Amino acid sequence: MSTGSVSRHGMWSNRWLFILAAAGSAVGLGNIWKFPYIAGENGGGAFVLIYLVCVAFVGIPIMMAEVLIGREGRQSPINTMRKLTEQHHKSGLWTLIGWAGVVAGFLILSYYVVIAGWALFYVLQMGSGALDGATADSASRLFDEFLSDPWQMIMWQTIFMVMVVYIISKGVIKGLERAIRWFMPLLFVLLCVLLGYAVTSDGWSQGVEFMFRLDFSEVTSESVLIALGQAFFTLSLGMGAIMAYGAYLPSGTSIGSTVTIIALLDTAVAIAAGLAIFPIVFANGLEPSQGPGLMFVTVPLAFGQLPLGVVFGTLFFVLVSFAAITSAISISEPALAYLVEEYNAKRGRVAISLGAISWLLGIGTVLSFNVWADVHIVGQLTYFDFVDYVSQNVMLPLGGMFIALFAAYVLPNTVIGAQLGIKSGAAAVAWKVVCGVIAPAAVLVVFIATLFPDLFNAVIALF
Ligand code: PFF
Repeated sequence: MSTGSVSRHGMWSNRWLFILAAAGSAVGLGNIWKFPYIAGENGGGAFVLIYLVCVAFVGIPIMMAEVLIGREGRQSPINTMRKLTEQHHKSGLWTLIGWAGVVAGFLILSYYVVIAGWALFYVLQMGSGALDGATADSASRLFDEFLSDPWQMIMWQTIFMVMVVYIISKGVIKGLERAIRWFMPLLFVLLCVLLGYAVTSDGWSQGVEFMFRLDFSEVTSESVLIALGQAFFTLSLGMGAIMAYGAYLPSGTSIGSTVTIIALLDTAVAIAAGLAIFPIVFANGLEPSQGPGLMFVTVPLAFGQLPLGVVFGTLFFVLVSFAAITSAISISEPALAYLVEEYNAKRGRVAISLGAISWLLGIGTVLSFNVWADVHIVGQLTYFDFVDYVSQNVMLPLGGMFIALFAAYVLPNTVIGAQLGIKSGAAAVAWKVVCGVIAPAAVLVVFIATLFPDLFNAVIALF
């Protein structure tokens, strides 16, 4: 067994740094930008509950599976799967999980960088005082004007991509360890400031009610799939990012408790972001279902009305950009580590090529908000909607399902026992049930429900 070995890409100095790095990967645009806007589009409370159930019963076990597979293989996800299947005489087809993860990574990175570019643009806008005393109208107008200008968006996308490429070319471990120690706690503080504002705003009780009132009448099979996809996206699961980080985790660290801490931190940030944003939405007569602009319109509104809002607002978007960088780094790691291992290539060169491909794919996302706004790839989905939907709602859950099956049925029980520190027979059975049955079955059921919505709606009608 290789639990005692080290990875050629480096190792986290200790358990807390792994927690910070994995939390840095998990906490990002998915929590602060995406979670509130898709909760808003999908009716609030019931969606939030389904999302939380997915995090607990699907996300946590699959994250444990990713970490343990990564630590067992100690290589990039593709080579880890290859090594483990050869070692245990299993089909090489499992390696496809690693390849699919790399493809999903390119797609996700391509639009992630565009949205992160929006956050950078808002650093400048907040910092220059352009949004000081903003009203719902002026904040919405600024956002719409920004979206209508593809060149401006491409410029910010490029700046962000250059930052990501620079950092990943230096190696993940050193840079991340240093950065995350500072920005994570600061981000929490700023979210609390925003939350404090939300609590005192007129929309607080309406916002809380929206987030937690259970009304299943608006739940469709599609929204369950979106909640599931969000659980994967927000925890960085299903494409090997956490597996790649698990490869740098020292042996002997408890996987179960480590993963639980990461999931709790991530969930806390998403709920805090929702609780901060929805009251502002209601206090200003905005629409909770307005889509991707939700954070970019509400947050400047709040800071625009707070004392020292220019300082806090600027800092907020700096921290969101930081959170996006630490996530973007982890999205690129599976492909980067693989290319370095396979071709003995220099990290810097690989990073530039990888960044260039994602950047190019991202142009489609930029255009989806202006020039191509009326171009629909499938149904009503624009290029951005399509790439987002396929990567988040199809590729990540399917990747996660196969990762869970791999951990439950391909790896021998002795390996799992050693990795998870399982001592009793009951714990081993519990693990098998959760990782081998509940998590993959949940993904399968949600997929079937989405393919056959009438069946799903009939079952929901029973409640
Ligand atoms: N978890 C990140 C977020 O919530 O913003 C996004 C992400 C990172 C998705 C890494 C997938 C991934 F592999």
